[in-house]
Amino acid sequence: MEEGLRIGVLISGGGSNLQAIIDAIGAGSLDAEIAVVISSRPDAYGLMRAREAGIPTCSLTKELYRDPAKANELIASEFARAGADYIVMAGYMRKVTVEVLRAFPDRVLNLHPALLPSFQGAHGIEDAFNAGVKVTGVTVHFANEAYDKGPIIAQRAVMVEEDDTLEALTERIHAAEHELYPEVLSLLAAGRIVIDEDRKVRVLGRSPDGRRSSDG
Ligand code: GAR
Repeated sequence: MEEGLRIGVLISGGGSNLQAIIDAIGAGSLDAEIAVVISSRPDAYGLMRAREAGIPTCSLTKELYRDPAKANELIASEFARAGADYIVMAGYMRKVTVEVLRAFPDRVLNLHPALLPSFQGAHGIEDAFNAGVKVTGVTVHFANEAYDKGPIIAQRAVMVEEDDTLEALTERIHAAEHELYPEVLSLLAAGRIVIDEDRKVRVLGRSPDGRRSSDG
């Protein structure tokens, strides 16, 4: 039997998306194993979640990021040492640089709390809310050297309600993320995500309306 996906996860904070991935693996809906969780901060709550689940962890410090190339070399070597096939950024608030991207070409995924290419950057939910858009959402994409601009794998829309608050919208965005990220990872584990020559992502076995085709 073929082994599931072996992933390395990068976090910076609460790690609720890491938890959603851990839970999906536990529930058997995601055939994957988390090889190691690396945090850009030693105080990230997500590290506790990882330890609780028995996953090896590693944390970096602000001082280390003074030399981003060095920090990224360390990240790449830790993931390689742990035997990760894919790198999954889950609320990682630093840039991954060429040291990681070249070690894992087209194998670094990012989660963004808005519908890219809109509202790029560190405040996707708030920027969309303040802009008064009626629809925002979440995006999972491959990371490349252009921040928040890599090939889009999947998106999910979240409506902005008439009397919405930033807090309520944030909660719905997170709920959408917790569903979408494990779903995408499970498509990846099934080998159903490919990047075309035109650098667009195709999900094999899915018709344009999002339904699974009969031969898929
Ligand atoms: C998530 O909403 C994620 O989309 C966002 O940080 C949050 C982390 O939550 N990431 C970015 O904004 C990246 N630019 P979590 O730590 O609870 O998973």
